[in-house]
Amino acid sequence: MNTAIDKANQAVEKLEQQINKQYYPHFHLAPPAGWMNDPNGLVYYKGQYHAFYQHHPYDENWGPMHWGHAVSDDLITWRRLPIAIAPDHDYDQSGCFSGSAVDNNGELCLIYTGHIWLNGQGNDEHIRETQCLATSKDGIHFEKHGTVLTPKEGIMHFRDPKVWQQQGKWWMVVGQREANDIGQVLLYRSTDLKDWIFDQVLISDIDPNVYMLECPDFFPLGDKWILMFSPQGMHAKGYQYRNRFQSGYIVGDWQPGKQFTVIKSFQEMDFGHDFYAPQSFLAADGRRIVFAWMDMWESKMPSKHDKWMGAFTLPRELILDRQNKVRNRPVKELEALREKPQSLTNITLNNELKNTNIESISCELNVEIDLANSNAERFGLQLAATPDGKQATLLYIDLQSNRLVLDRSLSGLDLKGYRSVPLPRNKKVTLHIFVDASSVEVFVNKDLYSLSSRIYPKLPATRLINLFAENGQARISKLESWQ
Ligand code: FRU
Repeated sequence: MNTAIDKANQAVEKLEQQINKQYYPHFHLAPPAGWMNDPNGLVYYKGQYHAFYQHHPYDENWGPMHWGHAVSDDLITWRRLPIAIAPDHDYDQSGCFSGSAVDNNGELCLIYTGHIWLNGQGNDEHIRETQCLATSKDGIHFEKHGTVLTPKEGIMHFRDPKVWQQQGKWWMVVGQREANDIGQVLLYRSTDLKDWIFDQVLISDIDPNVYMLECPDFFPLGDKWILMFSPQGMHAKGYQYRNRFQSGYIVGDWQPGKQFTVIKSFQEMDFGHDFYAPQSFLAADGRRIVFAWMDMWESKMPSKHDKWMGAFTLPRELILDRQNKVRNRPVKELEALREKPQSLTNITLNNELKNTNIESISCELNVEIDLANSNAERFGLQLAATPDGKQATLLYIDLQSNRLVLDRSLSGLDLKGYRSVPLPRNKKVTLHIFVDASSVEVFVNKDLYSLSSRIYPKLPATRLINLFAENGQARISKLESWQ
């Protein structure tokens, strides 16, 4: 019996009785109650997908971190398991921070950051972070083995280990805040997951304002190596880096024993408001899948009033294209959720707002836009919209700036701002859209760009799909939908 875990499980069950599900997702992973942030320890183990997550089971705010736990056969429907680890030892007393999981000959091993606040909660000037190990034979109950890797003298921010096995060795990437506030990703190697040897600094000082690289991940894709991470400190630049923190990747070449060489510098991975700390893993069939936390630090989080907070994005398959751009597209397993298909074709809009009868609380849409026959200034869709369009999340083409815009300034509770991506060069635009209670995920031309944002429509309100065109004509060749 582990009292810290039992207490935490009881707390979250009690809190669950108080939650209001008005914004709770229907097909995304979210905590049963309480707080969630980063995906942790994503792994295919003994025939099932395991997802862990940063979790505070006692209330809806971030607090001493536990690892929540869920399993799935298909990546889409999740069954919750007891909390896996709680901050109950001296080396992780202030939190079991983010990390990863590996299958070591049938033993499920969690490698995570033990976080200690030396001078009271929230005082980031005095912290200690080390990498710790916990193992399990049944994939549910974990035994802790303490710290396995400490930072060099003087380093405080040293966290989020991602471990994998290659050529008979274990490898680990960790984020570090070097002296002079320089964000780095370090590479280590080990033969037993316990003794770690420093291998190299994979990346350092990517931008003068970046002071920390959180949640690194390092994996092969196509014939390259992708170093994915979440930098803190970037300044907004034009349409880029508009969120509080960013998430993205660097493309390069690497093999054991060699230096990492960069081929393509930092690129953002998603262009919405809410996408952070992505982590990848291998599906049973070898696809590289990624989940991210579909929220952003310091943003408004209205579901806190409902006693829960945080969700994962949909699982997305990663693909490297010929320009060394990492694309992400929703996994094909999602198609199994489709119900009540509807299809509209050849819709012409003339400077008008048009209602459809498509419900958009929890739906999937496939839209084909005929740009050649459209000349309106702005045109597109209103998602989660009232029939009069006064409350709606706008997803539209702006023919003046030649961009696709996701605008949530009318979406409901107090969320401001828009995000946008350039229109594809070939002028053919398809939008694959998932709306789920309090989220919108848009995939442009299959996987060219993705935009992920949370929305909180004011309730009660009807939530439909409307179409609109302003000052001119627009042609939508196809609008398929599923509940
Ligand atoms: C990223 C992060 C990690 C840390 C965790 C704490 O969102 O800040 O660096 O391990 O969250 O919850």
